[in-house]
Amino acid sequence: MMSADRASTSIVIFGASGDLTWRKLIPALYNNFKKGRISDCAHIVGFARRPYSDETFRVYLRDGVSQFSPETFDISVWNDFASRVHYFQGNLENGNDFPALNQSLTKIESGLANRLYYLATSPEFYAPVTGYLGAANMARNDAEVTGWRRIIIEKPFGVDLASARELNHALHSAFDENQIYRIDHYLGKETSQNILFFRFANTIFEPVWNRRYVDNIQITVAENLDVGHRAGYYDSAGVVRDMFQNHILQLLALVAMEPPSSFNADSIRNEKVKVLDSFRPIVLNDSVRGQYSGYSNAAGVAPGSQTPTFAALKLYVDNWRWKGVPFYLRSGKALNRKVSEIIVEFQRPPHLMFHLPSDADFTPNILSLSIQPDEGIHLRFEAKLPDSDQDMRSVDMDFFYHSSFDGTPLPDAYERLLLEAIEGDASLFTRSDAIEAAWRLIDPVLSGWEQPDSPELVIYKPGSWGPRSADDLLGRDKRKWRTSSTENRPVAQNK
Ligand code: BG6
Repeated sequence: MMSADRASTSIVIFGASGDLTWRKLIPALYNNFKKGRISDCAHIVGFARRPYSDETFRVYLRDGVSQFSPETFDISVWNDFASRVHYFQGNLENGNDFPALNQSLTKIESGLANRLYYLATSPEFYAPVTGYLGAANMARNDAEVTGWRRIIIEKPFGVDLASARELNHALHSAFDENQIYRIDHYLGKETSQNILFFRFANTIFEPVWNRRYVDNIQITVAENLDVGHRAGYYDSAGVVRDMFQNHILQLLALVAMEPPSSFNADSIRNEKVKVLDSFRPIVLNDSVRGQYSGYSNAAGVAPGSQTPTFAALKLYVDNWRWKGVPFYLRSGKALNRKVSEIIVEFQRPPHLMFHLPSDADFTPNILSLSIQPDEGIHLRFEAKLPDSDQDMRSVDMDFFYHSSFDGTPLPDAYERLLLEAIEGDASLFTRSDAIEAAWRLIDPVLSGWEQPDSPELVIYKPGSWGPRSADDLLGRDKRKWRTSSTENRPVAQNK
């Protein structure tokens, strides 16, 4: 008998006429195909309401690939890829369309075939579509009889702990946890994946990665773009649901977790959950919320909206490694520039024998993991200024992906994530318990902000770094936000 890992695979995308499919999913599948990584994917089937034929759907998708992946687009590869693409006109709200889809898939698959379902739909369809798949017997995971069945769920995964639990429950009614791949595209970024390699494939960083040497850790995920045409979704979500509950807490878990014993999905995900569960509940006074000026006039934003487009939080982990080390997180739209960066600021030397005019002039060692756009890792340290007595200046040891890896462009996150799901490796996907742990941390902040005595929503200037109170959050601890690339390197002079 043929086994499922040698069977062909069908990828079924629900919400196939949407932006995500066009901009991200198809270019990612095309690039994997071009690299010869998914030659066993015999069928890619788009499910949506629009009255496309296979041919019009292919032309629409070709446009997306040539636009969003121009450097790899090749018409003959595309034609080969496109011959595997099909379209099924269906309605997500109509349960009868699922057995019909099943029939049509069975016809083109002719025999044992694996299936990867991708829910690229709006979130209100996640539970019903899962239910319809279950009812149509399309979720049955029997490698020898039908082939495997997996499902990828996009974010947002719930709007709070209760709704995330409900959604987990709905998913589990049709799929086992090991069939479910909750996607967080930040985990597919090369630079995020590299955090584990940096920490655990080297020996020199881990011994200082703790409260004895680290003064504080900062994560900045800043965007210069404003909310654009997504106000309809964004105004009900806000920055904390949009960026913190998922992307930033996932980065935080990678930075703060204990070493897993092996590089497999459950070892890694166990450690992530453990550390997320060890964060102390966030104190409202350690939170800042802001809204860029002009947001409330954007089309789709409710009049007088109190939705934050910026937030900063201070957190602590209650464990041996991190006791007392603050983690400062910030993210927002319409900020100074686009940058995602993790900063590890080390403590000052216990005794400074050099004569500095004031303590403030001394820059501690700073390690920065630059997630984007200038992907790399930088270590800042003090050096003696040549031809001086004991003046010093901060200098950087730099690693840039583009120079160390021959300028090879980094693949888009979706390329890696789709491949991992096809290969059945869930390490880069979020398990149900981690999703719930993240909401447990975030929920009290969101509900706290609804109380009258909570920190007020501060209006900030587009193009700035957000409200001044975000600087004060660190200032009152005698610290400041750091960014590796723009920080000037002052000379600390001995006078
Ligand atoms: C998405 C958010 O998950 O991430 C968007 O919904 C945000 O609001 C985007 O713009 C940022 O992703 P990236 O990869 O551009 O940093």
